Amino acid sequence: RSEPIQSICCIGAGYVGGPTCAVLAWKCPNICVTIVDISQERIDAWNSDELPIFEPGLEEIVKSRRGKNLFFSTDIDAAIIAADLVFVSVNTPTKTRGVGAGYAADLQYVEAATRRIALLSTKSKIIVEKSTVPCRTAESMRAILDATSPRPGVHFDILSNPEFLAEGTAVQDLLKPDRILIGALNTKSGKLAQDRLANVYATWVERSAIITTGLWSSELTKLAANALLAQRISSISSLAAICEKTGAEIDEVARGCGKDSRLGPHFLKAGLGFGGSCFQKDIFNLIYLAETFSLQPVADYWRQVLVMNEWTKASFSRTIIRHMFSTVSNKKIALLGFAFKKDTGDTRESPAISIARDLLVEGAEVYIYDPKVSERNMRQCLGAFSNFHFSSSVEAAALNASAVVVATDWDEFKPSSSSGKTAAAIDWTSIYANMNRPAFVFDGRGILDTAALQNIGFKVHTVGRGNLVDTLS
Ligand code: UDX
Ligand code: UDX
Ligand code: ADP
Repeated sequence: RSEPIQSICCIGAGYVGGPTCAVLAWKCPNICVTIVDISQERIDAWNSDELPIFEPGLEEIVKSRRGKNLFFSTDIDAAIIAADLVFVSVNTPTKTRGVGAGYAADLQYVEAATRRIALLSTKSKIIVEKSTVPCRTAESMRAILDATSPRPGVHFDILSNPEFLAEGTAVQDLLKPDRILIGALNTKSGKLAQDRLANVYATWVERSAIITTGLWSSELTKLAANALLAQRISSISSLAAICEKTGAEIDEVARGCGKDSRLGPHFLKAGLGFGGSCFQKDIFNLIYLAETFSLQPVADYWRQVLVMNEWTKASFSRTIIRHMFSTVSNKKIALLGFAFKKDTGDTRESPAISIARDLLVEGAEVYIYDPKVSERNMRQCLGAFSNFHFSSSVEAAALNASAVVVATDWDEFKPSSSSGKTAAAIDWTSIYANMNRPAFVFDGRGILDTAALQNIGFKVHTVGRGNLVDTLS
């Protein structure tokens, strides 16, 4: 018989651990959920009015459960000792040095967390990999637990339960997930642990959406899903490039393709390629895995997805410069959006970073506005290229500018009819009145009304459309 889980500890209060366990606490008021982190600053932020990450709907959930059955703490040891089940949601960045540098995942944080669990546990526990990890990480965790846990009678089951939430829609994704994946070893105790975690999710997720698999399949599925999604973006980017040369329009092509039920309509929006902390990192992981097993054509195949993504960003920057008479030196350019996608303040691997850098290197005066990204964060991302200007509105960024570049698909940049929001849309007529001539708009996300902008007088280039070529020829 499977005992219900009563106490959960989540190690790592980041983009994955924070929202996941907050929603869990909200849906399971009988489970005590403690989220711990080594960063005092992060934990303080989770305990304050200003949460460390922005996700629509998250604040309400955190505030309704905090102090009741949801706790944020730096007392990692106490939370581990009390827990029946521990989620490991620490960061797994790409290694920057040593074997596999640039490709392999750095598992030092996973190892540190695992060692701590082994050292402290006085009762049996279920350990759950939540962070994206390379295939067979559970094996290393098993070895560490076996080698360092001295107490007789203490048994650990390891499960893989990857998180598929996307930033900006994390709460919705967690409340109504397409699926919950739980991988376990095919042993009696592994199956029992799998069952106990499944029962937690079954509080709010339909049983049919809870998939149980082997441990290794589960680990690989997370990498595979992200690789397939990223591949789709690179595919649409490559087709957008052909559209720009031929006069086809990428949105029309995507609509025509997406109606095929075998392809489906989602994830076909062409833009500046993919950003975010996961896609590139997970493909690097997959490439490393393939090379480890001497599957060179497999590694090359996935590497090309990244090559396409880098090319997409670089090509957009080149297009801007070419249309601005091959020089942007000392020209003011407004960059709208810095987050890697709308509805998040996250800038990891954001395409906007590359665009900003390319323009700064060419000597442009870049003014950046983003609704959620702080100046401090922008400075960290741009590092040595910090000679940009921070703007607190679209209008300020565009005042006396020669070009406006849209780098993030924020709703507030969209025409009011398509954003579905009541907030005032950008007044392009007044923006145009205050810009240099010719006034350019470069729409890197395909979200603006090209015809309306051209009517005002703008020269417009939209990703995946050959329209600027048309208007100039
Ligand atoms: C294809 C397109 O599906 C169709 O829309 C287009 O009009 C013509 O080309 P077809 O070549 O007849 O149709 O067959 P399809 O079912 O697409 O299969 C093509 C190949 O892919 C076959 O060899 C099939 O065995 C293989 N395949 C397909 C797989 O190996 N796995 C799959 O999941 C699907
Ligand atoms: C992704 C996966 O979607 C999620 O399942 C996984 O758990 C983590 O990685 P995330 O990186 O948060 O989530 O965002 P996602 O919505 O997938 O977007 C990734 C990037 O692709 C963004 O830069 C986005 O702008 C871009 N994108 C996405 C497009 O350019 N076009 C699209 O049609 C979809
Ligand atoms: P993700 O996007 O995968 O959630 P983040 O970097 O946002 O990654 O969050 C990971 C969190 O894990 C960070 O806040 C980091 O401080 C924390 N962390 C890393 N190692 C440990 C550890 N050994 N114990 C507790 N917290 C840790």
